[in-house]
Amino acid sequence: MKRVRKCVFPVAGMGSRFLPATKASPKEMMPVVDKPLIQYAVEEAVAAGITDMIFITGRNKRTIEDHFDKAYEVEAELAARGKLDLLELVQGIVPKHINCIYIRQPEALGLGHAVLCAEPVVGDEPFAVILADDLIDAESPVLEQMAQMYEQHQCTILGVEEVARENTRQYGIVKTDGGEPGVVSAIVEKPQPRDAPSTLAVVGRYILSGRIFSHLQKVQAGAGGEIQLTDGIAALMRDEKVLAYRFKGTRYDCGSKLGYLQAMVAYGKKHPEVGADFSAYLKSL
Ligand code: UTP
Repeated sequence: MKRVRKCVFPVAGMGSRFLPATKASPKEMMPVVDKPLIQYAVEEAVAAGITDMIFITGRNKRTIEDHFDKAYEVEAELAARGKLDLLELVQGIVPKHINCIYIRQPEALGLGHAVLCAEPVVGDEPFAVILADDLIDAESPVLEQMAQMYEQHQCTILGVEEVARENTRQYGIVKTDGGEPGVVSAIVEKPQPRDAPSTLAVVGRYILSGRIFSHLQKVQAGAGGEIQLTDGIAALMRDEKVLAYRFKGTRYDCGSKLGYLQAMVAYGKKHPEVGADFSAYLKSL
């Protein structure tokens, strides 16, 4: 029986919807309250038992590496000032048993291409993919839910949720047999509402069979010159079972301004330090 030990974080996109904030710093380092999006993603992977974090980075993404690295100066300064709680916070960002691996995507050729860049490190093992800008608030972290499902089914699993029909053109949309989880029989990238085979959208959580790489190698660039992960999954589906899992949790699309603001409000309201005051402030508006 195979277990998922590796997680790929594609973080090489341009983040054009957040310009100018993303001109010189990565979208994935934008904080929700006091933690960057990418840290929420890594914490979710740790909760799912992942030990190898593989970041697919690009230009202007150095701060992600720095965030998960030792920060000698900050730590020395905090120790000197006796701020031991903050020191512990900074030192605990990455648990000791976790490996962080960085691969550079030379050109932003699409999500499928970013995932393909992980092949030399992943090999033919099953692996997870988290898109950090899909922040999901859940009692049990979503990747943990999916890893448990993987142990049972041993096949590719896509995290999905219902979206409004007018929004299908923003997502990969799946057609399933209606089961829970559903067996996927078709996947279409960004269909127009009238062409969408359903309203079940794939969001930023995947557990993929290692055989996806051989399919991604053959995928031709599609719309916008990008190599789509959806096309790789569509090809994989002809050989192997692919399941769609409706996760339990609330997703915030932090790649969009509205979703990011909604996440800030939701996480702000329950933050242990400022939650009560922030909720009172919102009520007063
Ligand atoms: P998005 O579609 O959100 O694109 O990519 P983006 O560039 O990040 O943001 P916008 O649309 O320009 O505002 C989905 C995920 O895939 C990664 C992104 O970093 C994001 O996590 N990605 C995308 C790559 O790593 N490489 C690529 O070539 C494209």
